[in-house]
Amino acid sequence: MLGARHPHELLIDDVYVDLSEVLDVPIAVKCESFNLAGSVKLKAAVSMIAAAEDSGELEPGSAIVESSSGNLGVALSIVAASKGYDFVCVTDPRSSVHNRRQIEATGGRVVVVTEPDANHGFLASRIRVVRELCATNPRFVWLDQYTNENNWRAHYQCTAPAIVKTCPDLEVLFVGAGTTGTLMGCAYYLRDVDHPAQVIAVDSVGSITFGGTAGPRFIPGLGTSRRPEMVDTSVLDGVIHVDEADTIRMCRTLARAGFLFGGSTGTVLAGATAWLEAAGREDANTIAIAPDLGERYLDTVYDDAWVAEHYGTDLLDSCTRAGSLDLPGAIPRSSR
Ligand SMILES: Cc1ncc(COP(=O)(O)O)c(C=O)c1O
Repeated sequence: MLGARHPHELLIDDVYVDLSEVLDVPIAVKCESFNLAGSVKLKAAVSMIAAAEDSGELEPGSAIVESSSGNLGVALSIVAASKGYDFVCVTDPRSSVHNRRQIEATGGRVVVVTEPDANHGFLASRIRVVRELCATNPRFVWLDQYTNENNWRAHYQCTAPAIVKTCPDLEVLFVGAGTTGTLMGCAYYLRDVDHPAQVIAVDSVGSITFGGTAGPRFIPGLGTSRRPEMVDTSVLDGVIHVDEADTIRMCRTLARAGFLFGGSTGTVLAGATAWLEAAGREDANTIAIAPDLGERYLDTVYDDAWVAEHYGTDLLDSCTRAGSLDLPGAIPRSSR
């Protein structure tokens, strides 16, 4: 038969976009969104579920429960649906409605935790709810993406070798840091094969993954309000923090050129362009990883009212805006 028999078997690892014309810097973006979960997190989901099945922790009748800002939830929900497991995603108000509805469409349940933790985030609150659920029912299996080494191993075995195969003379790799699974998997692989490329972590201002002070953040994917257990700075060559205002500007600049990327891709590219310029490395052979696309951020990053409410109208004014084309008054407009 032609084609994948299961939704998670489509792991596409060779799509790149050359953004040199848009950014004036020769950055190639590795697009991790062309699978049926729409994001990089499908790799972690497949890897963690396979390992839990191998160890006997997951068995027929098990129910998977996980804390996720959305994308891992979507990925787990499609693997769980395909394999016949029940699934509960514990998330927070910052996750996109698109992701929550996608999880529910594939049969998963979504719990939205609304009480922030002491660090302006929701991670500790989400994890508390996951622990409570596991305590109530022995069927629940928590994969725990923050401590599960099969999260970073997915990128050690898949993402990083694919990058080196496509671009053997890579000089700088920019990776956004959420759980740090993508980051650590790539960094460990490059170290172990003695590849000289520098690995630069990109995080959001207000995240405490690499230290610093916690602050408000509104864009899901990158950043934490609690240091991820697997973060290991000894294999990194740099860490940059990007203001969410710069994320929004970058996303909207790219979108006006037709590249509708997700919020974390805007963060990674804003950090990458600033780092390359500051280091005088604009001509380096550079790859940045793009975890997802922008369709799940239409109500946030790409919504004028949301941006004005969270960052102020000045930011909106400084962004690349919609064209100035005037339509005749009688023509009906979008009804949002
Ligand atoms: C959109 C997006 N970007 C980046 C990341 C970070 O990936 P990782 O958890 O591997 O650090 C995530 C993780 O959920 C994500 O959803």
